[in-house]
Amino acid sequence: MFYLKYRPRTIKELDNSQVRPKIANLLASKELPHALLFIGPKGMGKTSTARIVAKAVNCLENKFAGRGDSYEPCNTCHNCTSIENGSSPDVVEQDAASNRGIEEVRKLIRESSYAPMTGRYRVYIIDEAHMITTDAFNALLKTLEEPPATVVFILATTNEEKLPNTIISRCVRIPFGKAHKKDIIHMLNRIAKEEKVEAPAELQELVATYCEDSFRDAAKMFEELVMQDTLSIDKAQEYLGVRAKGTLLDVMQKGTLSDSMQWVEDFVQSGGNIKRAIEDMLQVLRLQLVAQSIGTNDQDKLSYTLKEISILIKLLHEAYNTLRISPIDSLPLELAIVEFYNARKKSGSL
Ligand SMILES: Nc1ncnc2c1ncn2[C@@H]1O[C@H](COP(=O)(O)OP(=O)(O)O)[C@@H](O)[C@H]1O
Ligand SMILES: [Mg+2]
Ligand SMILES: [Zn+2]
Repeated sequence: MFYLKYRPRTIKELDNSQVRPKIANLLASKELPHALLFIGPKGMGKTSTARIVAKAVNCLENKFAGRGDSYEPCNTCHNCTSIENGSSPDVVEQDAASNRGIEEVRKLIRESSYAPMTGRYRVYIIDEAHMITTDAFNALLKTLEEPPATVVFILATTNEEKLPNTIISRCVRIPFGKAHKKDIIHMLNRIAKEEKVEAPAELQELVATYCEDSFRDAAKMFEELVMQDTLSIDKAQEYLGVRAKGTLLDVMQKGTLSDSMQWVEDFVQSGGNIKRAIEDMLQVLRLQLVAQSIGTNDQDKLSYTLKEISILIKLLHEAYNTLRISPIDSLPLELAIVEFYNARKKSGSL
């Protein structure tokens, strides 16, 4: 799996350009902060970054070990490798979703005061930190304020608003934000180089546009394309379902119900992605909705009426929401199409 194989293992490999310099500065500074808070959606690299920090501060071959100036983990020494494979006694990864109570947190606080066994720091990576109970947070406060000199706490959360301000104010906050297009492209280049595949710039743009701002999704999507041997831009567009842009809307505007249903059939046959097709249609329709409402009528190639547009948006929304529970991917879209033709028939032509 590309997203695991190319999980960043050094600061330099962190493709997230918001985070990379911040972590680098922290590690380069004289005073290492003892409580960090990583904030951001899933797939943004919180866990990967936490592991890199844990390795860096415990590595036996870098500046933390008094060897040279580099703060990067070497990824080969005993400490780096045992942290990497999860066997280090000094690095504890804990999911707060299942260890959220006062007892668990007390235990953690107690253990954090023990001296590290093989490294320099005990590192506690607490994922989904917002799940911790109020009592447990209160117990943690004092420790976060004056942590033992040999401990680093890294709290990660997808919901900062659920964390008490008292906790936030005791941590160095690192927002992971969204994955920027250029950062995704940076990652794709890194993977393509290692995999020795040609990935044209246009294709990288395409993946970066469709990965929903997630490094993980981008890596997965790129892997699918490599495995399907669809790295040419045409094939990739077809595979990712991007061709749908406007097309089904064109067919529905001029063609019969049977034409439209045939379009979906062909689309599914060629491996198109229904979810993305609906997203694309909604994007186009929204632009039309806005343009027609405020009376600008430029650049539109479609000539649906405002009424038609609003009905279509509602139907597609419904289809989109039922996708998750439908056993057949194409069914919600097909139903929306049928209902649209019915509505049009009923009202003459709307
Ligand atoms: N900054 C990044 N640069 C490159 N790849 C990344 C980055 N962040 C995440 N990824 C990819 O996404 C996957 C999930 O990252 P992870 O660290 O588990 O994110 P999180 O903990 O925020 O959900 C990683 O295995 C990696 O392939
Ligand atoms: Mg994570
Ligand atoms: Zn090392």
